[in-house]
Amino acid sequence: MSFKPANNIQDLQYFGEFGGVNPSISDSSTYTFLSAKTMFDTFEGNADGCYLYSRHSSPSNLYLGEALAAMEGTETANVTASGMGAITPVILQLCGAGDHVVSSRTIYGGTYAFLKNFTPKLNISTSFVDITKLDVVEAAITENTKVLYCESVSNPLLEVADIKGLAAIAKKHNLKLVVDNTFSPLSISPVKLGADIVIHSLTKFINGSSDTVGGVVCGTQEFIDALRNVNDGACMLLGSTMDSLRAASVLKNLRTLHIRMQQHSHNATYLAQKFEADGLKTVYPGLESHPSHDLFKSMMNEKYGFGGMLTIDVGSLDKANALMELMQEKNLGYLAVSLGFYKTLFSAPGSSTSSEIPEDEQKEMGLSDGLIRFSIGLDADIERTYTMMHECMKELHIL
Ligand SMILES: Cc1ncc(COP(=O)(O)O)c(C=O)c1O
Repeated sequence: MSFKPANNIQDLQYFGEFGGVNPSISDSSTYTFLSAKTMFDTFEGNADGCYLYSRHSSPSNLYLGEALAAMEGTETANVTASGMGAITPVILQLCGAGDHVVSSRTIYGGTYAFLKNFTPKLNISTSFVDITKLDVVEAAITENTKVLYCESVSNPLLEVADIKGLAAIAKKHNLKLVVDNTFSPLSISPVKLGADIVIHSLTKFINGSSDTVGGVVCGTQEFIDALRNVNDGACMLLGSTMDSLRAASVLKNLRTLHIRMQQHSHNATYLAQKFEADGLKTVYPGLESHPSHDLFKSMMNEKYGFGGMLTIDVGSLDKANALMELMQEKNLGYLAVSLGFYKTLFSAPGSSTSSEIPEDEQKEMGLSDGLIRFSIGLDADIERTYTMMHECMKELHIL
């Protein structure tokens, strides 16, 4: 049976407190108990349906969490104040002093910096590997390894992780496979392919309106309960809690995600094909020239395509900067980091979102100076967009 994440979102039904078709927003930080005994039981984790304090959980956050759990096919989920506010507690919940992580080397710069520079202070070490080579991944595992970490489609190089293959390795060595699925919501469902925990930066496609940061951890009830545990839960104790008003607004945006992803994918496919035909070095998982095109196809859910992210290499940082400035001047998008907006966003990752990765390591992994990362927008007339981008490239002698 194929997995249909958008149906799961569509099928959620709400009867708000006053009969509203949206759940009522609960903006309380604390909650009354009708008896002292219930308060005690709730702190012990034994009073289902009772709230104790909004850093732990709140009705609005639970609504959003349950919708995202339905989307990823997990038992439950916990929403957080940002994507990094989801990633860091997961690592810290799963690892203690002396433990080891095997991570893809092509991941979001902030995650890389956390694993490379921050967790060593807690005596947690990480080996960064080429995640597309399963033998290399397995060889990096030590007796202290607890976590295998990757992005389903990596930022910014758009490498695709073989989630089934990685899950088999994780199972064999008793590790948790943690997958950041920010670049491929709906298209790829990592838990259905064997992952244990799925993370998103909601800031990107899922919210889709570049008006907030947010994150989520999707997993088993047991793991999410552990993250929220009042005694040793990393989400509860580190406090990366989402605000209830934001949870309500992200939930509303989630309902149109399937339509947006189809349009992002449609537009990105069109541009990637055109750029490649123009002779530009173009990376997009939907192109047959992408080394993991068939792998992506074998993992994807129907309908949502290969996503809205593509890269081109224009040869040098100077050329990349000139092109991005000209495209912004022509109103083709914004020179900005992040992704998933209705307008196209472009940035040179080597000097922005991946600048935490040292230059020699950038070179080794194929992150070149002239690389431009595009998050393709929802443009209604992508042919017009292409024609204008082509003119910009001609003007700057890139084509
Ligand atoms: C793949 C990926 N994961 C995680 C993050 C971090 O998310 P946030 O900025 O919401 O903390 C980002 C953000 O840029 C990202 O691109």
